[in-house]
Amino acid sequence: MTYQLYIRSFADGNGDGLGDVAGIRQRLPYLAALGVDAIWVNPWYPSPQADGGYDVSDYRDIEPAFGTLDEAQAMIDEAHALGLKVILDIVPNHTSDEHAWFVAALAAGPGSPERARYLFRPGKGPDGALPPNDWKAVFGGPAWERVTEPDGTPGEWYLHLFDPKQPDLDWENPEVRGEFLDILRFWFDRGADGFRIDVAHGLVKDPAMPDLGDDEEHLLGTPDRADHPHWDLPGVHDIYREWRVLADSYDPPKLFVAEAWVSSPERLAAYLRPDELHTAFDFDFVRAAWDAAELRATATSSLAAHDRVGAPVMWTLSNHDITRHVSRLGRPQSQRSADPLHGDNGETDVELGRRRARAALLLELALPGGVYLYQGEELGLEEVEDLPEELLQDPTWERSGHVERGRDGCRVPLPWAPDGPSLGFGDAAPWLPQPASWAAVSAASQEGDPTSMLALYREALRLRRDLPGLGAGTGADVTWLDLGDDVVAFRREPGVACLVNCGSTPVPLPAGTVLLSSVPLDLSASAELPADTAVWLAV
Ligand code: GLC
Repeated sequence: MTYQLYIRSFADGNGDGLGDVAGIRQRLPYLAALGVDAIWVNPWYPSPQADGGYDVSDYRDIEPAFGTLDEAQAMIDEAHALGLKVILDIVPNHTSDEHAWFVAALAAGPGSPERARYLFRPGKGPDGALPPNDWKAVFGGPAWERVTEPDGTPGEWYLHLFDPKQPDLDWENPEVRGEFLDILRFWFDRGADGFRIDVAHGLVKDPAMPDLGDDEEHLLGTPDRADHPHWDLPGVHDIYREWRVLADSYDPPKLFVAEAWVSSPERLAAYLRPDELHTAFDFDFVRAAWDAAELRATATSSLAAHDRVGAPVMWTLSNHDITRHVSRLGRPQSQRSADPLHGDNGETDVELGRRRARAALLLELALPGGVYLYQGEELGLEEVEDLPEELLQDPTWERSGHVERGRDGCRVPLPWAPDGPSLGFGDAAPWLPQPASWAAVSAASQEGDPTSMLALYREALRLRRDLPGLGAGTGADVTWLDLGDDVVAFRREPGVACLVNCGSTPVPLPAGTVLLSSVPLDLSASAELPADTAVWLAV
């Protein structure tokens, strides 16, 4: 059970409007009381912040706006003292263009060992004025940028699958491999318990760099072909085998969780073979609509694929890249767009989304495996869909020519209290404005209210810890029950059933004692499970 901290937006300890390490330290007791086992902190390294810290200029230090290395060490130690493990975020696909390596590569010129750490290529056309191939960047526009050589002439091009400020590294270069092993060691030695691996499926590129034709680049989609030249190439697995050896050299061993957007549960499971990574986010589950058949099918196929390699599934509903699930679930599920994680498919009914989010929580917590929670979901926060355009910071907004608003709407600073310049986030106005309605759902406002989202999270996490029938396990531990087409229902031993009614009418409840329900149930009136609710039963 891991809680994701988007550091810029979690808590601001020094009053500059931006979250920081000091803010995390102040709120660690809140996380311990919530009942999570671990925290994952998004990149906190020095960075120009062209992509919210995923553009790292020094992997062995802390961004000054977030704090110092000493504060980070104190945070790790304090988390450990509270029984929380600490997962950091490693960004191996690309560095910042302000990283010392890239600065040196530009200065050293074509053919140099400095350039060989990145993917520089000559352009096409008579004077090299055309990009080396037709690859597109995830954030929009071409994936190549032309540089000016030290002598002032227009020169080579470099690959950036994301923003031009994020040049891709060349993972065929042993120096790159050695450097990242050393970075991992640096943080493991400081007590980090593991790493989330950013774009784990992207590191290796087909050396022939063939044109892609009309393919659109969607980070958060599946690659649309099995032989894609830069997503999910077989060579990535060798890298993770080396990383695993390093992780296993520690006692206790360190842990990895991969962000890998791949085309099937089997391709995902390939990352989780016994000598590779331990875990990976299950994005099929995130993409599933609020539909019983789809949720059941997704859970079944994910469990089966993971069971074949002996790895646990990591269920998740939200993160810093996708529309918050309260909003996703509060939209018409019948008209889901091609990109269900961002698509705008109709009006958002936040109250309906919250009701379904409560039920979805009980579902993911009852399935065998682990769970990643994203900060603010325990408050029931919705996506902020009306941020003023001039405040948008996600590079997607500029790179898409102001077509796609990007991911800022799920990154708005948390409301901790009902008042103040940033609803308790810190002492100054927050870096992105919070909706006024969040005063009512702040952590302090929900404290003591047994019907609040926060209370449901605490109670569900407590029960999941205490009930032997919940938590870790495999697909073999799930017995699916047939309670009609609209209900996801299963039983785990000893004696716990989870039922989720995704339909629009109540369904009869089978015999059993209610352990927890997503909304209060009045069983004296009728033994029914209302629409869009879930229950855990002792059976
Ligand atoms: C990952 C991160 C995302 C970032 C991208 C490029 O998908 O989660 O936030 O923009 O990688 O590093």
